[in-house]
Amino acid sequence: MRLVWNSSLETGLRQIDLQHEELIGIINALQDILDSGAAGEAAGPVLTRLGNYILFHFGTEENLMRGLPGHRSDHLAEHRAFVARFDALRQSAPLTEASLNALVDYLNTWLATHIQQTDRALAKELLQNRLAGGAALPPR
Ligand SMILES: [Fe+2]
Repeated sequence: MRLVWNSSLETGLRQIDLQHEELIGIINALQDILDSGAAGEAAGPVLTRLGNYILFHFGTEENLMRGLPGHRSDHLAEHRAFVARFDALRQSAPLTEASLNALVDYLNTWLATHIQQTDRALAKELLQNRLAGGAALPPR
């Protein structure tokens, strides 16, 4: 399954949307490796890049949500649980086609669900509380 950027994934915060697009692009690079029939070795550098970008991206969101204490703990818990599962999956050796497939499926499913539910709720609260700028701000 390949995740393709579409309007259902927009949060209304351009900074977050651009980072989500980048994440989807890196996950699709893993899918490209699978499609080309390359061995698990080729996935190593892409997984490292993905792991680093995930931490950078979660850091961006977690900084933004500091002003929303009511929102924060559940969202942080989702990030923590994801990182734990992602690390466990990517470190399971050897990285076979089957395990890489399972990893890509997990990434796509988690990311789409998380964006559409948790990140959209975050963006909405930030915009309502004037804690971030975005296209979705209503006219005053
Ligand atoms: Fe998030």
